[in-house]
Amino acid sequence: MLDEKKILLCATGGIAVYKAVFLLRELVRRKARVSVVMTENACKFVAPLTFETLSGGPVFTDLFSLTREGQIPHIALADFPDIIVVAPATANIIGKIAGGIADDLTSTIITASKAPVLICPAMNANMYENKIVQKNLETLASLGYWIMAPGYGPLACRSDGQGRLPEPFDIAEEIEFVLAKKDLSDENIVITAGPTQEPLDPVRFISNHSSGKMGYALALAARRRGAAVTLISGPTALNPPAGVTFVSVQTALQMRDAVLAHFKRATVVIKAAAVADYRPAVYQATKIKKKEGGMNLSLERNPDILAEIAAKKGHRIIVGFSMESDHVVEHAREKLIAKGIDFIVANDVTETGAGFGGDTNIVRIIDKNGALEEYSLMSKLDVADVILDRVRMLRENRIKG
Ligand code: PMT
Repeated sequence: MLDEKKILLCATGGIAVYKAVFLLRELVRRKARVSVVMTENACKFVAPLTFETLSGGPVFTDLFSLTREGQIPHIALADFPDIIVVAPATANIIGKIAGGIADDLTSTIITASKAPVLICPAMNANMYENKIVQKNLETLASLGYWIMAPGYGPLACRSDGQGRLPEPFDIAEEIEFVLAKKDLSDENIVITAGPTQEPLDPVRFISNHSSGKMGYALALAARRRGAAVTLISGPTALNPPAGVTFVSVQTALQMRDAVLAHFKRATVVIKAAAVADYRPAVYQATKIKKKEGGMNLSLERNPDILAEIAAKKGHRIIVGFSMESDHVVEHAREKLIAKGIDFIVANDVTETGAGFGGDTNIVRIIDKNGALEEYSLMSKLDVADVILDRVRMLRENRIKG
């Protein structure tokens, strides 16, 4: 969430201005305080009234008219935001910012502001590929401006190519990323998520109810906080967060291979996946046919990935999860000790709002010394930050010695 974050949204003149309307809605949904500036050309695509209605404030268009409070707009607006977002950004505004030209309200505010600036180019593919536009973007990136590459797809000029304004949700995510504290930028975090599926035959498998939401929230939060993130995921319906290395697996054995392959570079491993403890002893290559009477399945144990990596953890921080339906704390403590990890996050499948599927969780965290901390219901994203705060604290304590 962007609670109370002050965002100055600058819309410049391209057809994608209509998508900036949806961006504004997404930012307001995330509880940001948004003010809008439009260039003269942007106003030709969408009327300022649309942005005024959705932002609940005036839209600024003119360099020379004072604000309602009698302030000079480009100075007042330059001082106001936590971040300036230029979406859509035309080749023209990119060229002006890169060249230090300040000849209208948008370019003047950006020149006068010390806030971080996120530029979201959107234009015809040939314009985007133009060497001068590319050079201007490189110049801006080298000066610390944040640039979001445009997407591929159909463009307003009825051709396909790279030039589409990124989706409003993705721009909002990028804003969250730019504004988040980067306190995990020294960490390389491997996160597992989702269920594993253990196939019986080409049609059926053994699995569980994990949606992957807890692990994906951890990946998103860790990436926002500057960590290099590898997300190893069993089958889910979720899109991996932008900016993470994504590894898709199906079975526990594949998850083990993937975790071991990324273990060497990892400084932290967080195992939020619900790994099947058993797999069918035999995989039948053709569909198992039904017969009269019952049927017995022979299962064999899957390797315990968490215990295996914890045995060779070195300086890494290893975090496990525990999912139980009774004696939640006792069982979690047993796993913490048996697996030899740094701390364990316990959740109870019987509690409303906790565990599988939903967007919230209720967790208890138990550390190596046996200390227990209990948390009330919160979003999985907030739970992720609580876990990452603890990782950060452990790291600081280790550095202090
Ligand atoms: O995905 P969601 O719908 O958001 O739900 C989140 C969750 C409930 C899956 C998550 O919060 C959670 O509790 N994950 C761990 C579930 C689980 O498998 O718990 P466990 O008690 O069986 O396993 C203990 C730990 O050992 C886990 O970190 C697990 O990843 C790991 N493990 C288990 C078995 C195995 N063979 N290898 C392992 O590494």
